[in-house]
Amino acid sequence: MRNKPLLVAAGLTLVLSVLVFAAGWMFGSLRPRPVPPPTAASVPVDARAIFIPGGSEIDPLRRGVPVDKEGHPPPMARVENTDISRVRNYPMQPPTIPHTIDGYQVDLNSNRCMLCHARANAATFQAPPVSVTHYMDRDDQFLATISPRRYFCNQCHVVQTDAPTLVANGFKDIDTVMALPAPPGGH
Ligand code: HEC
Ligand code: HEC
Repeated sequence: MRNKPLLVAAGLTLVLSVLVFAAGWMFGSLRPRPVPPPTAASVPVDARAIFIPGGSEIDPLRRGVPVDKEGHPPPMARVENTDISRVRNYPMQPPTIPHTIDGYQVDLNSNRCMLCHARANAATFQAPPVSVTHYMDRDDQFLATISPRRYFCNQCHVVQTDAPTLVANGFKDIDTVMALPAPPGGH
């Protein structure tokens, strides 16, 4: 061996550097790191109270939380599965769906909704059949099966959730209007 002293020196250097590394690893982490003091800005602000029916302002982005504060995300609305239909909010509103529709597939090959809501199956499943409008094409001709215009049910019908009302609605249906006393001087 010609370079024996060199090899020994290299080996010693390696062992030494490993020792130094190990010592730094063990003791360096014991030193307490400076922790930033908690500031008021990082305390989440409860923004749920912002959804007040009839409130004067809607702020969907910050929900009234000041820009230097962090707000809780509002809880996700739950889909109701109560079988209780809601009254309509405007004329010709597609009725809302009083049951959950999780996993009900509607695509080119199958339409889960029509399993229950087709005329032929409605009695079996005790579901209201889709109305005649759902069989009409755009020229008001009646088709034998669901019209392509009404095929994708979720385009118009939505589930009912327990989300709070954001905007007040003064809509009165025709039955309510007819029950009102006649305006003075009117016909
Ligand atoms: C397993 C059978 C079944 C399936 C599948 C189904 N429904 Fe229903 N649906 C019903 C029944 C039964 C009712 C009557 C109210 C109740 O019992 O929930 C109803 C009520 C409705 C109503 C209310 C009608 C009204 O006059 O108020 C709508 C709208 C509706 N469903 C749409 C849909 C849509 C859209 C789908 C597919 C995403 C669907 N349904 C899938 C059984 C079903
Ligand atoms: C283009 C919008 C649209 C689409 C798509 C649509 N509907 Fe409707 N649906 C309506 C409207 C509007 C009404 C209420 C007036 C009417 O009957 O036409 C209604 C009424 C209904 C009703 C109540 C019927 C009754 O006699 O009270 C059911 C049930 C229903 N739809 C189910 C479905 C199903 C299931 C699908 C998918 C196969 C579907 N709808 C697709 C708009 C739509």
